[in-house]
Amino acid sequence: MARLRAGVLISGRGSNLQALIAACSAEAYPAEIVLVISSRAEARGLRVAAAAGIPTVVIPHRDRRAFAAEAQPRLCEHRVELVCLAGFMRILDANFVAAWRDRMVNIHPSLLPSFRGLHAQRQALAAGVRFTGCTVHFVRPELDCGPIIAQAVVPVHPDDDEARLSGRILKTEHRLYPLAVRLIAEGRVRVVPAVAPPGGAAGGAAERIEIINARIPDISALSPKD
Ligand code: GRF
Repeated sequence: MARLRAGVLISGRGSNLQALIAACSAEAYPAEIVLVISSRAEARGLRVAAAAGIPTVVIPHRDRRAFAAEAQPRLCEHRVELVCLAGFMRILDANFVAAWRDRMVNIHPSLLPSFRGLHAQRQALAAGVRFTGCTVHFVRPELDCGPIIAQAVVPVHPDDDEARLSGRILKTEHRLYPLAVRLIAEGRVRVVPAVAPPGGAAGGAAERIEIINARIPDISALSPKD
């Protein structure tokens, strides 16, 4: 079967890119990375991509429209079918987002819809939550919004600082992103209308994701453990 052709957009370190590359290196994995676009020439992720023999393009992010105008033809040229944002630190042009609706995903280091935006791990520490995590979701024009495909839960330890918590979440991101991309590549991810909350409470999502043949984890966790 043909593998899903993914393009990855990065701005920096590229550890999630690396995790996706590792997943794609397995013959049975149903996706491949055909292009990496970086908004920064000095991004470490560019070296990660080059080492894996993946074509790279640097498109400095002058403004949203200019970036989109350069990125779109590159993605088409490489016949990209799914765009993966992996530490891409810029807000994208709304028309670009619309053009890739349900074909562009992002990973965020919190359990969305909690802690959108920058420094999600710092926000979690400040809020005093006992669990946080990471989320892969389809991209919508609003920052860190969009139907949730997959999430992973990570405990917050009493002696955590931002770096320790971020490191723990990142390890989990590296498992979650390849899983979510695999589900999409297998055609198992469907966007459906959200179930309206009783009484039509405001603030809910308009859409949600249905995963075909999902295996739901049968665990719950307490923090602290009793
Ligand atoms: C990750 O924490 C990701 O969730 C966030 O930016 C960070 C990117 O890290 N969107 P890397 O470049 O993949 O190492």
